[in-house]
Amino acid sequence: MEQRERTERLQIDSLDLDARGVARSASGKVVFVDNALPGECVQARISRSKRNWEQGVAVAWERVASSREVPLCPHFGVCGGCSMQHVDASSQLAFKQRVLEDDLWHLSRLKAQTLLRPIAGPSWGYRTRARLAVRLVPKKGGVLVGFHEKRSSYIADMRSCAILPRRVSDLLLPLRELVAGLSQPDRMPQIELAMGDTVIALVLRHLEPLTDDDMLRLRTFGAQHGVQWWLQPKGPDSVTLLDPGAEQLSYDLPEFGIRMPFRPTDFTQVNPAINRVMVARALRLLGVQPTDRVIDWFCGLGNFTLPIATQARQVLGVEGSAALVARALDNAFRNDLQDKAVFTARNLFEITVDDLLAFGPAERWLIDPPREGALALCKALVEAGEVFVLPRRIVYVSCNPATLARDAGLLVHQAGYALRAAGVMNMFPHTAHVESMAVFERP
Ligand SMILES: C[S@@+](CC[C@H](N)C(=O)[O-])C[C@H]1O[C@@H](n2cnc3c(N)ncnc32)[C@H](O)[C@@H]1O
Repeated sequence: MEQRERTERLQIDSLDLDARGVARSASGKVVFVDNALPGECVQARISRSKRNWEQGVAVAWERVASSREVPLCPHFGVCGGCSMQHVDASSQLAFKQRVLEDDLWHLSRLKAQTLLRPIAGPSWGYRTRARLAVRLVPKKGGVLVGFHEKRSSYIADMRSCAILPRRVSDLLLPLRELVAGLSQPDRMPQIELAMGDTVIALVLRHLEPLTDDDMLRLRTFGAQHGVQWWLQPKGPDSVTLLDPGAEQLSYDLPEFGIRMPFRPTDFTQVNPAINRVMVARALRLLGVQPTDRVIDWFCGLGNFTLPIATQARQVLGVEGSAALVARALDNAFRNDLQDKAVFTARNLFEITVDDLLAFGPAERWLIDPPREGALALCKALVEAGEVFVLPRRIVYVSCNPATLARDAGLLVHQAGYALRAAGVMNMFPHTAHVESMAVFERP
């Protein structure tokens, strides 16, 4: 039953997966407390009360954790973009590592033989992809452009963003003015950001056709602020460049001499500095030999496949999106790796053991699935083990430690692999997202 708000003194024991402090109330209920850290003693305002749990926010501190830091961003606490700016960088990494270790243990009774050193990079200005919501809110004085507020459909009234690159953060207010001056500012629900090494692309979702004056305003804004506009009148396939011939978005992987062109709606990793280190580490752990055949599952536009192609006899990239497969193939040609890298489109959530046998054996696998993980693939691998030479080594890159832990259970307990190593990467500093990598090997 919902109750009226009250304040309670609480000792915070741990953090949950949304980076909220977790405590026990005097009545024995679990309480999730925003802006409270393990080791702290706080006065919390309880705003929601259910039979077994409560929710609140810390409003005063009797004891402050040594890991507490002053959030850099004035919008922290309201904006839903970050949840950990009040935690210092090393404690953020320790939290993420604990989540990974706990999931491996509690979901599959596994401990990695070695813990990999966490990969960390710049804490601010790292986020080169973002979906910015746009809404005309006359009560707030016009158009808002930004992330949603925490657990809300409202858009945060944000004037800057410390996790976006400075050049993009500086565009937030000019973008409000731009949209307010367009013909139908209430029919432009989203601007998507995609940044390459040299180009900033903005994709404007518009529900009504744009006028000539709208186009002129977009072009003037683009020239003034050094951004290129893409327009999206319908679904993702309708995205087109406003001015064809503009410089192409791309990022480099210098260690492998690779340039990777992409379109703003393609999947690319959010944090380019961490991506470069992650790809290099994955390849080191994979230990590719010149005679090896390798399979890169969920290969996207070839982020791991093309670096692998510089070392292997052959690499096969498998991916669900036909558009990304086409991009990966194109990227293989542009980097003169077309003889080493081949690609194919397949829904890997439905892969069977027969499909796997048809793809053929490979000495090494790289698996980099979406949040849902790679259950069907791991199940097919377990079945294939009866009739097929399994890969000696697998490097699994994950954006969801729970599905990694589940899949790791199959690989270890049913397919005979050892979990040699696992570790986290701070791909999304100040958020509770846990990106990790694990290495499996058959003895
Ligand atoms: C985490 S991304 C990794 C992409 C790539 N390895 C990279 O580093 O850029 C996951 C990829 O899985 C693909 N994907 C999602 N669902 C899929 C499915 N059911 N079958 C095959 N691929 C899928 C997405 O299109 C995306 O490219």
